[in-house]
Amino acid sequence: MAVDGSKNASLPLMAAALLADAPVTLRRVPNLSDVANMAHLLAELGCETDATHGTMTLNNVDTSLTHARYDIVRTMRASICVLGPLVARRKIARVSMPGGCSFGARPIDLHLKGLEALGAKIQLDGGDIVVSADRLKGATIFLGGAFGSTVLGTANIMSAATLAQGTTTIESAACEPEIVDVADLLTKMGAKITGAGSPRITIEGVEQLGGADHHVIPDRIVAGTYAIAAAITNGDITFQDFPYDYLLAVIDSLKQVGVDVRKVDESEDSRCCRVQVTSSRRLKPVRVTTQPYPGFPTDLQAQMLALLCLAEGNSIITEKIYPERFLHVAELTRMGAQIFREGPTVVVQGSPKLVGAPVMASDLRASASLVLAGLAAEGETIVTRVYHLDRGYMQMEETLAALGANIERFDPDKELAREIAEGPESTEPLIETTMPVKTVKVS
Ligand code: EPU
Repeated sequence: MAVDGSKNASLPLMAAALLADAPVTLRRVPNLSDVANMAHLLAELGCETDATHGTMTLNNVDTSLTHARYDIVRTMRASICVLGPLVARRKIARVSMPGGCSFGARPIDLHLKGLEALGAKIQLDGGDIVVSADRLKGATIFLGGAFGSTVLGTANIMSAATLAQGTTTIESAACEPEIVDVADLLTKMGAKITGAGSPRITIEGVEQLGGADHHVIPDRIVAGTYAIAAAITNGDITFQDFPYDYLLAVIDSLKQVGVDVRKVDESEDSRCCRVQVTSSRRLKPVRVTTQPYPGFPTDLQAQMLALLCLAEGNSIITEKIYPERFLHVAELTRMGAQIFREGPTVVVQGSPKLVGAPVMASDLRASASLVLAGLAAEGETIVTRVYHLDRGYMQMEETLAALGANIERFDPDKELAREIAEGPESTEPLIETTMPVKTVKVS
């Protein structure tokens, strides 16, 4: 299977186009609801987007617009990425203050601290953050927080600093591959950036940025999710563009569990190569702690937890990025999982099987973990609120069905008609997953 372009790179890449004085073309942009929301937000900010078959062209046609409204920001926290580019290029940004999300508080204090250090004036007005500066000024900024570095905060400050007067140094910068991708695009646009991918990024401000043509990196979280799908179903998947280098912590944990993750051709570039993932179902328990990159990503914690429910022994998962990101635990328990939580740590007592049940998705990655659990469970699993999945996985049910899973999305309208005829069950869109054959094979 092919791995789609990264959502978490595409969103700040799209926002970075606000800095450009000429069209920016992004390739391999995934067709996801979060990407559509960002395109909608950019359109409201006078940046037209034109997308066909994963190629998106972004063009600033009205640079007088500066307000990211609550209606859009509340649907997607990543809207905060427009803050830095807007104030740098348009001198003022008014962005609705994002609220918390289903897995806890998600403050933006580090984004604001960084912009303030660059000389911006920051005010709160009617629920909006208003950030203004005639021209930002380079500075040395420590961007670390209680939970480590901030990914979108680093993207925001790095993007803003490209047009600042003088040199900016970001210390304790996020090292995620998505940050390197944003730096690569900005560099193609004319920015002067060194150190992206390390904890110290230096940006020498320039007067203006032009257009560029850029391929988005493959999505490491999507690749990791399907690798765990192969593991949990005792399956066999060969990936075409597997970001092996970006997933070393995950591959290490999977190997400890007993999953075989193998480059098909050792000589290929490890950033994007062919990889085969197979498993023989005798899963060993493991200890996993989520950490900033290059540690085990929080965005694969829920999926790994689903896998460890079937290991032979007790596993421990500690969540160090979002200590409350455990909404999937109660739902997995409904499927027979034995999970005990103590603050940011869960102990997973592995059992030989999970049983299908109706379960509810609460956020993007939790939804993915429930689908994976459903693939391995005995009997039928019905996952409701799967619109969360569409934020980060392109037609997940179609991809899994093509790999051999018995999975289907219900049409909500047809479902409603059925409910009226047969009585209520749920008004949410549904995914049904059953996996009578415990092997996933690539076609
Ligand atoms: N934090 C602060 N202050 C800030 C910003 C962050 O205290 O100003 C804290 C957060 O509360 C968290 C930690 O720092 O505890 C890391 O948060 P970060 O800012 O790195 O998260 P983010 O940039 O808002 C991105 C991804 C998330 C992913 C995190 C961590 C995008 C669009 N989102 O969020 O992805 O979980 O990094 O890797 O890139 C997902 O795709 O499902 C998802 C939630």
